[in-house]
Amino acid sequence: MTAPTLAYESDLATIWLGDARDVLPTIPKESVDLIVTDPPYSVEWQSRRRAESFEQLLGDGDNDDDRAVISAVLTQCVRIVGQNRHLYVFGPAEALAGQKVSEVVELVWDKGMLGSGDMTAAWGPQHERVSFCTSKFRHAGETGKANVPTRLRKGSVLSFTRPTGRKVRHPSEKPWPLLAELIESSSRRGDLVVDPFAGVGSTGVAAILTGRRAVLVEKDPRWLPIAVERIKAAEAIALQGVAA
Ligand SMILES: C[S@@+](CC[C@H](N)C(=O)[O-])C[C@H]1O[C@@H](n2cnc3c(N)ncnc32)[C@H](O)[C@@H]1O
Repeated sequence: MTAPTLAYESDLATIWLGDARDVLPTIPKESVDLIVTDPPYSVEWQSRRRAESFEQLLGDGDNDDDRAVISAVLTQCVRIVGQNRHLYVFGPAEALAGQKVSEVVELVWDKGMLGSGDMTAAWGPQHERVSFCTSKFRHAGETGKANVPTRLRKGSVLSFTRPTGRKVRHPSEKPWPLLAELIESSSRRGDLVVDPFAGVGSTGVAAILTGRRAVLVEKDPRWLPIAVERIKAAEAIALQGVAA
């Protein structure tokens, strides 16, 4: 196994190249304010339209080994996130089965257009599920009331157009405004957001543009330069806002 290496570090962001199973154990218990992540879970890249453009994602083989890796990383996420803080995990609630978290609520991301997938099926996927939960309160004698109430009680359908055409940098790239909505709903300015399956860094971009800090981990070196470039651009925008 290759040791993780630091690809980028600043006051606002840290980006690791490596396996999240090696990086997350180095993060202290309950030191993180929010987890927002998009594991390569059962989303094997099937689109005929895009088959030539992107190779299959690492860890996206939709088999038991890959699911065990995702589960191990999510266990680490639950360990490092603070008491009663929030986790958003793209994918079905089953991805969080067995984890020490509250009941999982599934949100729906409406992409506003047909996604890829099995092009021969009658119904094309226009949505993805996002599983929301709270880390279980671990101190005895406390009420277990959430530390970070969601900003407003909102509906469970989130409508954000997915990136298309030349704007797509990664086969599973998420629109940063969607991630910003999740981050702003479940954290405060200055909080630390972690994404262990970072891809091209969309969670980090959303965190920085909303005044938070980010730690990202990505195993595949193909995506690292793009993530670093995007994070630097987001930092430049955030710093302009501070100076103005
Ligand atoms: C679904 S994609 C995330 C895309 C991201 N949401 C974005 O907008 O760019 C999942 C990513 O996890 C990475 N990955 C898979 N296994 C990993 C592991 N064990 N540690 C860290 N990253 C991993 C893959 O290379 C892939 O880029």
